[in-house]
Amino acid sequence: MTNILCIGAGYVGGPTMAVIASHCPQHRVVVVDINEARINAWQSDQLPIYEPGLYEVVSSARGRNLFFSTEVNRHIAEADIIFVSVNTPTKSFGQGAGRAADLQYWEKTARQIVENSTSSKVVVEKSTLPVRTAEAMEHILNYNSAGLHFDIVSNPEFLAEGTAIQDMQNPDRVLIGGKDSPSGQKAVQAIVDIYSQWVPRERIITTNLWSSELSKLAANAFLAQRVSSINAISALCEKTGADVNEVSHAIGLDNRIGPRFLKASVGFGGSCFRKDILNLVYLCEYYGLGEVASYWEQVIKMNDHQQQRFVSNMVSSMFNTVAGKRIALFGAAFKANTSDTRESPALAVCRALLEERADIVLTDPHALDNARTDLGGAAKFVCFEPDPYAAAKNAHAIAILTDWAQYVDLDYEAIYKSMAKPAFIFDGRNILDHKKLHAMGFNVYAIGKPPLTYTQAS
Ligand code: NAD
Ligand code: UGA
Repeated sequence: MTNILCIGAGYVGGPTMAVIASHCPQHRVVVVDINEARINAWQSDQLPIYEPGLYEVVSSARGRNLFFSTEVNRHIAEADIIFVSVNTPTKSFGQGAGRAADLQYWEKTARQIVENSTSSKVVVEKSTLPVRTAEAMEHILNYNSAGLHFDIVSNPEFLAEGTAIQDMQNPDRVLIGGKDSPSGQKAVQAIVDIYSQWVPRERIITTNLWSSELSKLAANAFLAQRVSSINAISALCEKTGADVNEVSHAIGLDNRIGPRFLKASVGFGGSCFRKDILNLVYLCEYYGLGEVASYWEQVIKMNDHQQQRFVSNMVSSMFNTVAGKRIALFGAAFKANTSDTRESPALAVCRALLEERADIVLTDPHALDNARTDLGGAAKFVCFEPDPYAAAKNAHAIAILTDWAQYVDLDYEAIYKSMAKPAFIFDGRNILDHKKLHAMGFNVYAIGKPPLTYTQAS
Protein backbone atom coordinates (compact mmCIF):
# COMPACT_ATOMS: atom_id res chain seq x y z
CA MET A 1 0.00 0.00 0.00
CA THR A 2 1.17 3.50 -0.83
CA ASN A 3 0.08 6.45 1.28
CA ILE A 4 -0.98 9.16 -1.15
CA LEU A 5 -1.67 12.64 0.17
CA CYS A 6 -3.11 15.60 -1.66
CA ILE A 7 -2.70 19.07 -0.16
CA GLY A 8 -5.56 21.29 -1.37
CA ALA A 9 -9.15 19.99 -1.55
CA GLY A 10 -10.43 22.31 -4.27
CA TYR A 11 -11.81 21.83 -7.78
CA VAL A 12 -8.72 19.80 -8.71
CA GLY A 13 -7.59 18.10 -5.49
CA GLY A 14 -10.99 16.65 -4.52
CA PRO A 15 -12.07 15.19 -7.89
CA THR A 16 -8.61 13.94 -8.98
CA MET A 17 -7.99 12.14 -5.71
CA ALA A 18 -11.50 10.64 -5.72
CA VAL A 19 -10.81 9.17 -9.18
CA ILE A 20 -7.38 7.87 -8.11
CA ALA A 21 -8.85 6.30 -4.97
CA SER A 22 -11.68 4.69 -6.91
CA HIS A 23 -9.24 3.04 -9.35
CA CYS A 24 -6.55 2.16 -6.81
CA PRO A 25 -8.21 0.42 -3.86
CA GLN A 26 -4.76 -0.88 -2.86
CA HIS A 27 -3.61 2.66 -1.98
CA ARG A 28 -4.75 4.96 0.82
CA VAL A 29 -5.62 8.45 -0.42
CA VAL A 30 -6.02 11.38 1.98
CA VAL A 31 -7.01 14.89 0.89
CA VAL A 32 -6.21 17.70 3.33
CA ASP A 33 -7.06 21.38 3.38
CA ILE A 34 -6.79 24.28 5.81
CA ASN A 35 -10.37 25.20 4.96
CA GLU A 36 -12.41 23.30 7.54
CA ALA A 37 -15.78 24.07 5.93
CA ARG A 38 -14.56 22.60 2.65
CA ILE A 39 -13.32 19.43 4.33
CA ASN A 40 -16.61 19.06 6.21
CA ALA A 41 -18.46 19.38 2.92
CA TRP A 42 -16.27 16.71 1.28
CA GLN A 43 -17.23 14.43 4.18
CA SER A 44 -20.94 15.10 3.74
CA ASP A 45 -23.59 14.45 1.08
CA GLN A 46 -23.40 18.12 0.00
CA LEU A 47 -20.02 18.17 -1.75
CA PRO A 48 -18.38 21.61 -1.92
CA ILE A 49 -18.45 21.70 -5.73
CA TYR A 50 -21.08 20.78 -8.28
CA GLU A 51 -19.65 18.41 -10.87
CA PRO A 52 -21.64 15.73 -12.76
CA GLY A 53 -20.71 12.21 -11.60
CA LEU A 54 -18.53 13.44 -8.73
CA TYR A 55 -20.78 12.29 -5.92
CA GLU A 56 -20.88 8.73 -7.26
CA VAL A 57 -17.07 8.52 -7.49
CA VAL A 58 -16.54 10.08 -4.06
CA SER A 59 -19.05 7.83 -2.38
CA SER A 60 -17.57 4.73 -4.02
CA ALA A 61 -14.26 5.24 -2.21
CA ARG A 62 -14.91 7.53 0.77
CA GLY A 63 -14.31 5.76 4.07
CA ARG A 64 -12.72 2.80 2.22
CA ASN A 65 -9.45 4.27 0.91
CA LEU A 66 -10.41 7.93 0.44
CA PHE A 67 -10.33 10.29 3.41
CA PHE A 68 -10.68 14.04 3.90
CA SER A 69 -9.00 15.82 6.80
CA THR A 70 -7.72 19.14 8.15
CA GLU A 71 -4.78 17.49 9.92
CA VAL A 72 -2.23 18.56 7.34
CA ASN A 73 0.93 17.96 9.39
CA ARG A 74 0.03 14.48 10.57
CA HIS A 75 -0.80 13.31 7.07
CA ILE A 76 2.38 14.82 5.62
CA ALA A 77 4.36 12.68 8.06
CA GLU A 78 2.52 9.52 6.98
CA ALA A 79 2.65 10.11 3.21
CA ASP A 80 4.86 8.42 0.58
CA ILE A 81 3.64 10.56 -2.33
CA ILE A 82 2.32 14.11 -1.90
CA PHE A 83 0.31 15.82 -4.64
CA VAL A 84 0.24 19.58 -4.12
CA SER A 85 -2.93 21.11 -5.52
CA VAL A 86 -3.13 24.44 -3.76
CA ASN A 87 -4.32 27.59 -5.50
CA THR A 88 -1.86 29.62 -7.57
CA PRO A 89 -3.75 32.86 -8.30
CA THR A 90 -2.40 35.93 -10.07
CA LYS A 91 -0.25 38.03 -7.77
CA SER A 92 -2.09 41.13 -6.61
CA PHE A 93 0.81 42.97 -5.01
CA GLY A 94 4.48 43.89 -5.46
CA GLN A 95 6.69 42.73 -8.29
CA GLY A 96 4.73 41.14 -11.12
CA ALA A 97 1.38 42.27 -9.65
CA GLY A 98 -1.50 41.51 -12.03
CA ARG A 99 0.59 39.05 -14.05
CA ALA A 100 2.93 36.71 -12.19
CA ALA A 101 1.62 33.69 -10.28
CA ASP A 102 1.30 34.20 -6.55
CA LEU A 103 3.35 31.29 -5.22
CA GLN A 104 2.94 31.99 -1.51
CA TYR A 105 0.53 29.08 -0.87
CA TRP A 106 2.76 26.81 -2.87
CA GLU A 107 5.93 27.79 -1.01
CA LYS A 108 4.22 27.59 2.40
CA THR A 109 3.16 24.06 1.53
CA ALA A 110 6.70 23.10 0.52
CA ARG A 111 8.05 24.38 3.83
CA GLN A 112 5.32 22.57 5.73
CA ILE A 113 6.29 19.35 3.94
CA VAL A 114 9.92 19.67 5.02
CA GLU A 115 9.04 20.54 8.59
CA ASN A 116 6.72 17.59 9.06
CA SER A 117 8.52 14.85 7.15
CA THR A 118 10.40 12.04 8.80
CA SER A 119 10.98 10.04 5.60
CA SER A 120 11.91 10.78 1.97
CA LYS A 121 8.99 11.38 -0.41
CA VAL A 122 7.86 12.09 -3.93
CA VAL A 123 6.30 15.55 -4.24
CA VAL A 124 4.02 16.08 -7.22
CA GLU A 125 3.23 19.49 -8.71
CA LYS A 126 -0.49 19.23 -9.51
CA SER A 127 -1.12 22.96 -9.35
CA THR A 128 -0.42 24.96 -12.51
CA LEU A 129 2.92 26.68 -12.02
CA PRO A 130 5.41 28.88 -13.85
CA VAL A 131 8.01 26.90 -15.75
CA ARG A 132 11.05 26.12 -13.56
CA THR A 133 9.08 26.21 -10.28
CA ALA A 134 10.34 22.70 -9.59
CA GLU A 135 13.83 24.17 -9.31
CA ALA A 136 12.75 26.43 -6.43
CA MET A 137 10.91 23.47 -4.90
CA GLU A 138 14.09 21.42 -4.97
CA HIS A 139 15.96 24.13 -3.09
CA ILE A 140 13.32 24.43 -0.40
CA LEU A 141 12.76 20.71 0.04
CA ASN A 142 16.22 19.28 -0.30
CA TYR A 143 18.19 21.71 1.86
CA ASN A 144 16.98 20.07 5.05
CA SER A 145 19.06 19.05 8.02
CA ALA A 146 17.37 15.67 8.47
CA GLY A 147 19.05 14.12 5.41
CA LEU A 148 15.71 13.52 3.70
CA HIS A 149 15.47 13.39 -0.08
CA PHE A 150 12.50 14.69 -2.05
CA ASP A 151 11.93 13.93 -5.73
CA ILE A 152 9.85 16.47 -7.58
CA VAL A 153 7.52 15.40 -10.34
CA SER A 154 5.30 17.62 -12.48
CA ASN A 155 1.87 16.17 -13.25
CA PRO A 156 -0.31 19.05 -14.47
CA GLU A 157 -4.07 18.57 -14.55
CA PHE A 158 -6.02 19.04 -17.78
CA LEU A 159 -9.56 18.44 -16.51
CA ALA A 160 -12.23 20.94 -17.49
CA GLU A 161 -14.95 21.78 -15.00
CA GLY A 162 -18.34 20.34 -15.83
CA THR A 163 -16.69 17.30 -17.45
CA ALA A 164 -14.02 16.72 -14.80
CA ILE A 165 -14.94 13.14 -14.03
CA GLN A 166 -15.11 11.96 -17.64
CA ASP A 167 -11.91 13.91 -18.42
CA MET A 168 -10.11 12.03 -15.67
CA GLN A 169 -11.69 8.64 -16.33
CA ASN A 170 -10.74 8.85 -19.99
CA PRO A 171 -8.01 11.46 -20.41
CA ASP A 172 -6.56 12.42 -23.82
CA ARG A 173 -3.19 12.14 -22.11
CA VAL A 174 -1.59 12.16 -18.69
CA LEU A 175 1.61 14.18 -18.56
CA ILE A 176 4.36 13.36 -16.08
CA GLY A 177 7.61 15.29 -16.01
CA GLY A 178 10.64 14.39 -13.96
CA LYS A 179 14.38 14.63 -13.60
CA ASP A 180 16.67 12.41 -15.62
CA SER A 181 18.44 11.04 -12.51
CA PRO A 182 17.80 7.44 -11.30
CA SER A 183 15.74 8.63 -8.34
CA GLY A 184 13.92 11.18 -10.55
CA GLN A 185 12.96 8.42 -12.98
CA LYS A 186 11.90 6.14 -10.12
CA ALA A 187 9.60 8.91 -8.90
CA VAL A 188 8.13 9.34 -12.40
CA GLN A 189 7.53 5.59 -12.55
CA ALA A 190 5.67 5.69 -9.21
CA ILE A 191 3.22 8.21 -10.69
CA VAL A 192 2.97 6.29 -13.99
CA ASP A 193 2.06 3.19 -11.95
CA ILE A 194 -0.86 5.01 -10.33
CA TYR A 195 -2.40 6.25 -13.60
CA SER A 196 -1.77 3.02 -15.48
CA GLN A 197 -4.37 1.38 -13.22
CA TRP A 198 -6.97 2.81 -15.62
CA VAL A 199 -5.28 4.90 -18.33
CA PRO A 200 -3.84 3.05 -21.37
CA ARG A 201 -0.04 3.22 -21.15
CA GLU A 202 0.35 4.94 -24.53
CA ARG A 203 -1.67 7.88 -23.24
CA ILE A 204 0.70 8.43 -20.32
CA ILE A 205 3.56 10.54 -21.57
CA THR A 206 6.73 11.37 -19.71
CA THR A 207 8.93 14.42 -20.32
CA ASN A 208 11.49 16.51 -18.55
CA LEU A 209 10.23 18.77 -15.76
CA TRP A 210 10.32 22.03 -17.68
CA SER A 211 8.45 20.66 -20.70
CA SER A 212 5.74 19.36 -18.43
CA GLU A 213 5.35 22.64 -16.54
CA LEU A 214 5.33 24.67 -19.76
CA SER A 215 2.96 22.32 -21.61
CA LYS A 216 0.24 23.08 -19.09
CA LEU A 217 0.51 26.83 -19.61
CA ALA A 218 0.78 26.36 -23.37
CA ALA A 219 -2.28 24.08 -23.54
CA ASN A 220 -4.48 26.62 -21.74
CA ALA A 221 -3.08 29.46 -23.87
CA PHE A 222 -3.85 27.55 -27.09
CA LEU A 223 -7.40 26.73 -25.97
CA ALA A 224 -8.14 30.30 -24.92
CA GLN A 225 -6.55 31.59 -28.10
CA ARG A 226 -9.05 29.58 -30.18
CA VAL A 227 -11.95 31.12 -28.28
CA SER A 228 -10.53 34.62 -28.71
CA SER A 229 -9.90 33.96 -32.39
CA ILE A 230 -13.48 32.92 -33.11
CA ASN A 231 -14.75 35.79 -30.96
CA ALA A 232 -12.65 38.20 -33.03
CA ILE A 233 -14.26 36.74 -36.15
CA SER A 234 -17.70 37.11 -34.52
CA ALA A 235 -17.21 40.88 -34.35
CA LEU A 236 -16.48 40.95 -38.06
CA CYS A 237 -19.53 38.75 -38.75
CA GLU A 238 -21.77 41.27 -37.01
CA LYS A 239 -20.49 44.02 -39.32
CA THR A 240 -20.69 42.02 -42.55
CA GLY A 241 -23.76 39.79 -42.32
CA ALA A 242 -21.74 36.58 -42.07
CA ASP A 243 -22.91 34.10 -39.43
CA VAL A 244 -20.21 32.98 -36.99
CA ASN A 245 -21.77 29.53 -36.50
CA GLU A 246 -21.57 28.93 -40.22
CA VAL A 247 -18.00 30.20 -40.31
CA SER A 248 -16.85 28.06 -37.38
CA HIS A 249 -18.56 25.01 -38.88
CA ALA A 250 -16.88 25.63 -42.22
CA ILE A 251 -13.39 26.12 -40.79
CA GLY A 252 -13.76 23.39 -38.17
CA LEU A 253 -14.36 20.76 -40.85
CA ASP A 254 -10.74 21.26 -41.90
CA ASN A 255 -8.98 18.38 -40.16
CA ARG A 256 -6.01 20.58 -39.47
CA ILE A 257 -8.19 23.04 -37.55
CA GLY A 258 -10.79 20.73 -35.99
CA PRO A 259 -14.22 21.69 -34.63
CA ARG A 260 -13.66 22.07 -30.88
CA PHE A 261 -13.26 25.34 -28.99
CA LEU A 262 -14.68 27.35 -31.87
CA LYS A 263 -17.92 28.37 -30.16
CA ALA A 264 -18.23 32.14 -30.22
CA SER A 265 -19.47 33.47 -26.89
CA VAL A 266 -19.63 36.41 -24.55
CA GLY A 267 -16.06 35.43 -23.65
CA PHE A 268 -14.17 32.76 -21.81
CA GLY A 269 -14.13 32.64 -18.04
CA GLY A 270 -12.97 30.24 -15.36
CA SER A 271 -10.26 30.45 -12.79
CA CYS A 272 -7.39 29.48 -15.07
CA PHE A 273 -7.33 30.76 -18.66
CA ARG A 274 -6.77 34.36 -17.69
CA LYS A 275 -4.32 33.71 -14.87
CA ASP A 276 -2.31 31.12 -16.81
CA ILE A 277 -1.96 33.37 -19.87
CA LEU A 278 -0.97 36.30 -17.66
CA ASN A 279 1.60 34.02 -16.10
CA LEU A 280 2.88 33.05 -19.56
CA VAL A 281 3.06 36.72 -20.53
CA TYR A 282 5.01 37.48 -17.38
CA LEU A 283 7.44 34.63 -18.02
CA CYS A 284 8.04 35.81 -21.59
CA GLU A 285 8.74 39.33 -20.36
CA TYR A 286 11.03 37.97 -17.65
CA TYR A 287 13.07 36.17 -20.31
CA GLY A 288 13.18 39.32 -22.47
CA LEU A 289 10.69 38.05 -25.07
CA GLY A 290 8.58 41.19 -25.41
CA GLU A 291 7.01 40.33 -28.78
CA VAL A 292 6.06 36.87 -27.59
CA ALA A 293 4.52 38.36 -24.45
CA SER A 294 2.36 40.81 -26.45
CA TYR A 295 1.23 38.04 -28.79
CA TRP A 296 -0.28 36.08 -25.89
CA GLU A 297 -1.54 39.15 -24.08
CA GLN A 298 -3.75 39.89 -27.06
CA VAL A 299 -5.77 36.74 -26.27
CA ILE A 300 -6.84 38.33 -23.00
CA LYS A 301 -7.41 41.76 -24.50
CA MET A 302 -9.72 40.22 -27.10
CA ASN A 303 -11.64 38.43 -24.34
CA ASP A 304 -12.10 41.66 -22.38
CA HIS A 305 -13.18 43.38 -25.58
CA GLN A 306 -15.78 40.70 -26.32
CA GLN A 307 -17.39 41.19 -22.91
CA GLN A 308 -17.39 44.99 -23.26
CA ARG A 309 -18.79 44.71 -26.78
CA PHE A 310 -21.63 42.51 -25.52
CA VAL A 311 -22.63 45.06 -22.87
CA SER A 312 -22.37 48.08 -25.17
CA ASN A 313 -24.47 46.25 -27.75
CA MET A 314 -27.13 45.67 -25.09
CA VAL A 315 -27.17 49.30 -24.07
CA SER A 316 -27.23 50.71 -27.61
CA SER A 317 -29.93 48.28 -28.77
CA MET A 318 -32.14 49.22 -25.85
CA PHE A 319 -32.32 52.85 -26.96
CA ASN A 320 -29.03 53.82 -25.31
CA THR A 321 -30.22 53.45 -21.76
CA VAL A 322 -30.81 50.58 -19.37
CA ALA A 323 -31.01 52.71 -16.24
CA GLY A 324 -33.89 51.51 -14.06
CA LYS A 325 -34.75 48.72 -16.50
CA ARG A 326 -35.12 45.20 -15.15
CA ILE A 327 -32.70 42.88 -16.96
CA ALA A 328 -32.66 39.13 -16.35
CA LEU A 329 -29.26 37.50 -16.62
CA PHE A 330 -29.60 33.77 -17.35
CA GLY A 331 -26.53 32.09 -15.92
CA ALA A 332 -23.84 33.06 -13.44
CA ALA A 333 -21.45 30.09 -13.81
CA PHE A 334 -18.53 30.55 -16.22
CA LYS A 335 -19.79 27.57 -18.21
CA ALA A 336 -22.55 24.96 -17.96
CA ASN A 337 -22.50 22.09 -15.47
CA THR A 338 -20.46 23.82 -12.81
CA SER A 339 -21.25 26.02 -9.83
CA ASP A 340 -17.98 27.89 -10.33
CA THR A 341 -18.25 31.63 -10.97
CA ARG A 342 -14.56 32.54 -10.91
CA GLU A 343 -13.80 35.02 -13.73
CA SER A 344 -17.27 34.33 -15.10
CA PRO A 345 -18.19 36.60 -18.02
CA ALA A 346 -21.70 36.59 -16.53
CA LEU A 347 -20.44 38.49 -13.49
CA ALA A 348 -18.44 40.89 -15.67
CA VAL A 349 -21.61 41.65 -17.64
CA CYS A 350 -23.55 41.97 -14.38
CA ARG A 351 -21.08 44.50 -12.97
CA ALA A 352 -21.03 46.53 -16.19
CA LEU A 353 -24.83 46.69 -16.31
CA LEU A 354 -24.95 47.74 -12.65
CA GLU A 355 -22.65 50.61 -13.63
CA GLU A 356 -25.32 51.54 -16.17
CA ARG A 357 -27.80 51.48 -13.25
CA ALA A 358 -29.82 48.59 -14.62
CA ASP A 359 -32.04 46.63 -12.27
CA ILE A 360 -30.36 43.22 -12.37
CA VAL A 361 -31.93 39.88 -11.56
CA LEU A 362 -29.53 36.96 -11.78
CA THR A 363 -30.62 33.36 -12.16
CA ASP A 364 -28.63 30.12 -12.26
CA PRO A 365 -29.47 26.52 -11.35
CA HIS A 366 -26.33 25.90 -9.26
CA ALA A 367 -24.09 28.96 -9.00
CA LEU A 368 -26.06 31.64 -7.15
CA ASP A 369 -24.25 31.18 -3.82
CA ASN A 370 -20.84 31.53 -5.45
CA ALA A 371 -22.09 34.47 -7.52
CA ARG A 372 -23.21 36.27 -4.38
CA THR A 373 -19.78 35.77 -2.81
CA ASP A 374 -17.81 36.71 -5.94
CA LEU A 375 -19.85 39.86 -6.56
CA GLY A 376 -18.83 41.12 -3.12
CA GLY A 377 -20.19 44.61 -2.41
CA ALA A 378 -22.11 44.68 -5.71
CA ALA A 379 -24.25 41.71 -4.58
CA LYS A 380 -26.55 43.96 -2.56
CA PHE A 381 -27.72 45.62 -5.80
CA VAL A 382 -28.58 42.29 -7.45
CA CYS A 383 -31.71 40.21 -7.04
CA PHE A 384 -30.82 36.49 -6.93
CA GLU A 385 -33.65 34.36 -8.32
CA PRO A 386 -33.29 30.61 -8.89
CA ASP A 387 -36.43 30.45 -11.11
CA PRO A 388 -35.76 31.79 -14.64
CA TYR A 389 -39.46 32.45 -15.24
CA ALA A 390 -39.68 34.63 -12.14
CA ALA A 391 -36.42 36.34 -13.16
CA ALA A 392 -37.77 37.23 -16.60
CA LYS A 393 -41.13 38.53 -15.34
CA ASN A 394 -41.47 42.25 -16.15
CA ALA A 395 -37.91 42.34 -17.51
CA HIS A 396 -37.08 44.45 -20.55
CA ALA A 397 -34.34 42.05 -21.59
CA ILE A 398 -32.89 38.61 -21.03
CA ALA A 399 -29.19 37.93 -21.54
CA ILE A 400 -28.10 34.31 -21.87
CA LEU A 401 -24.68 34.20 -20.23
CA THR A 402 -24.14 30.53 -19.39
CA ASP A 403 -24.77 27.66 -21.80
CA TRP A 404 -26.97 25.64 -19.40
CA ALA A 405 -29.00 23.10 -21.43
CA GLN A 406 -32.15 23.94 -19.43
CA TYR A 407 -32.22 27.46 -20.89
CA VAL A 408 -32.79 26.02 -24.37
CA ASP A 409 -36.03 24.31 -23.40
CA LEU A 410 -37.79 27.07 -21.47
CA ASP A 411 -41.28 28.15 -22.54
CA TYR A 412 -40.21 31.37 -24.25
CA GLU A 413 -43.80 32.11 -25.37
CA ALA A 414 -44.82 32.35 -21.72
CA ILE A 415 -41.67 34.30 -20.88
CA TYR A 416 -42.33 36.76 -23.72
CA LYS A 417 -45.87 37.39 -22.48
CA SER A 418 -44.61 38.13 -18.96
CA MET A 419 -41.98 40.67 -20.06
CA ALA A 420 -42.05 44.45 -20.59
CA LYS A 421 -42.32 45.42 -24.28
CA PRO A 422 -40.46 45.73 -26.51
CA ALA A 423 -38.78 42.57 -25.22
CA PHE A 424 -35.12 41.91 -25.98
CA ILE A 425 -33.08 38.75 -25.82
CA PHE A 426 -29.29 38.78 -26.05
CA ASP A 427 -27.92 35.30 -26.58
CA GLY A 428 -24.33 35.42 -25.38
CA ARG A 429 -23.92 31.69 -25.99
CA ASN A 430 -25.78 31.22 -29.29
CA ILE A 431 -27.81 28.36 -27.82
CA LEU A 432 -31.37 29.47 -28.62
CA ASP A 433 -33.51 29.19 -31.74
CA HIS A 434 -33.28 32.81 -32.82
CA LYS A 435 -35.78 32.71 -35.69
CA LYS A 436 -38.40 31.14 -33.46
CA LEU A 437 -37.85 33.75 -30.76
CA HIS A 438 -38.08 36.54 -33.31
CA ALA A 439 -41.36 35.10 -34.60
CA MET A 440 -42.70 35.27 -31.02
CA GLY A 441 -42.00 38.98 -30.93
CA PHE A 442 -38.57 39.17 -29.33
CA ASN A 443 -35.85 41.49 -30.61
CA VAL A 444 -33.04 38.98 -30.86
CA TYR A 445 -29.33 39.71 -30.69
CA ALA A 446 -26.84 36.86 -30.89
CA ILE A 447 -23.06 36.69 -31.06
CA GLY A 448 -21.67 37.04 -34.57
CA LYS A 449 -25.03 36.99 -36.34
CA PRO A 450 -27.24 39.63 -37.90
CA PRO A 451 -29.78 40.86 -35.30
CA LEU A 452 -33.46 39.94 -35.76
CA THR A 453 -35.33 43.00 -34.58
CA TYR A 454 -38.51 45.03 -34.81
CA THR A 455 -36.95 48.13 -33.31
CA GLN A 456 -34.41 49.05 -35.95
CA ALA A 457 -33.80 48.54 -39.64
CA SER A 458 -31.69 45.39 -40.12
P1 NAD B 1 -9.06 25.91 -5.30
O1 NAD B 1 -8.90 27.29 -4.83
O2 NAD B 1 -10.44 25.38 -5.58
O3 NAD B 1 -8.40 24.89 -4.24
C1 NAD B 1 -7.17 25.09 -3.65
C2 NAD B 1 -7.28 24.66 -2.18
O4 NAD B 1 -5.98 24.68 -1.59
C3 NAD B 1 -8.16 25.57 -1.34
O5 NAD B 1 -9.24 24.83 -0.78
C4 NAD B 1 -7.20 26.09 -0.24
O6 NAD B 1 -7.81 26.24 1.02
C5 NAD B 1 -6.14 24.99 -0.23
N1 NAD B 1 -4.87 25.42 0.36
C6 NAD B 1 -4.15 26.54 0.11
N2 NAD B 1 -3.03 26.56 0.87
C7 NAD B 1 -3.04 25.42 1.62
C8 NAD B 1 -2.17 24.85 2.60
N3 NAD B 1 -1.03 25.46 2.95
N4 NAD B 1 -2.50 23.67 3.16
C9 NAD B 1 -3.65 23.05 2.82
N5 NAD B 1 -4.52 23.52 1.91
C10 NAD B 1 -4.22 24.70 1.30
O7 NAD B 1 -8.16 25.76 -6.59
P2 NAD B 1 -8.33 24.72 -7.80
O8 NAD B 1 -9.31 25.23 -8.79
O9 NAD B 1 -8.49 23.34 -7.25
O10 NAD B 1 -6.89 24.85 -8.48
C11 NAD B 1 -5.74 24.34 -7.86
C12 NAD B 1 -4.60 24.37 -8.86
O11 NAD B 1 -4.92 23.53 -9.98
C13 NAD B 1 -4.32 25.75 -9.46
O12 NAD B 1 -2.95 25.88 -9.68
C14 NAD B 1 -5.04 25.71 -10.80
O13 NAD B 1 -4.42 26.55 -11.76
C15 NAD B 1 -4.87 24.27 -11.21
N6 NAD B 1 -5.91 23.74 -12.11
C16 NAD B 1 -7.23 24.04 -11.89
C17 NAD B 1 -8.20 23.49 -12.72
C18 NAD B 1 -9.66 23.79 -12.51
O14 NAD B 1 -10.47 23.36 -13.32
N7 NAD B 1 -10.08 24.47 -11.46
C19 NAD B 1 -7.84 22.62 -13.75
C20 NAD B 1 -6.48 22.33 -13.94
C21 NAD B 1 -5.52 22.90 -13.10
C1 UGA C 1 -9.87 24.77 -19.00
C2 UGA C 1 -9.22 23.72 -19.91
O1 UGA C 1 -10.17 23.29 -20.88
C3 UGA C 1 -8.72 22.53 -19.11
O2 UGA C 1 -8.04 21.63 -19.95
C4 UGA C 1 -7.78 23.03 -18.01
O3 UGA C 1 -7.37 21.96 -17.19
C5 UGA C 1 -8.50 24.05 -17.15
O4 UGA C 1 -8.96 25.15 -17.98
C6 UGA C 1 -7.63 24.66 -16.09
O5 UGA C 1 -6.43 24.66 -16.21
O6 UGA C 1 -8.25 25.20 -15.18
P1 UGA C 1 -12.24 25.04 -17.85
O7 UGA C 1 -11.79 26.44 -17.64
O8 UGA C 1 -12.76 24.29 -16.69
O9 UGA C 1 -11.03 24.17 -18.44
O10 UGA C 1 -13.37 25.00 -18.98
P2 UGA C 1 -13.35 25.12 -20.58
O11 UGA C 1 -14.26 24.11 -21.12
O12 UGA C 1 -11.97 25.16 -21.11
O13 UGA C 1 -14.02 26.54 -20.81
C7 UGA C 1 -13.35 27.75 -20.46
C8 UGA C 1 -14.19 28.93 -20.89
O14 UGA C 1 -14.18 29.06 -22.31
C9 UGA C 1 -15.65 28.83 -20.49
O15 UGA C 1 -16.11 30.10 -20.07
C10 UGA C 1 -16.35 28.41 -21.76
O16 UGA C 1 -17.71 28.77 -21.81
C11 UGA C 1 -15.52 29.16 -22.80
N1 UGA C 1 -15.57 28.55 -24.15
C12 UGA C 1 -15.06 27.31 -24.37
C13 UGA C 1 -16.11 29.28 -25.21
O17 UGA C 1 -16.56 30.42 -25.03
N2 UGA C 1 -16.13 28.71 -26.45
C14 UGA C 1 -15.63 27.46 -26.70
O18 UGA C 1 -15.68 27.02 -27.86
C15 UGA C 1 -15.09 26.75 -25.63
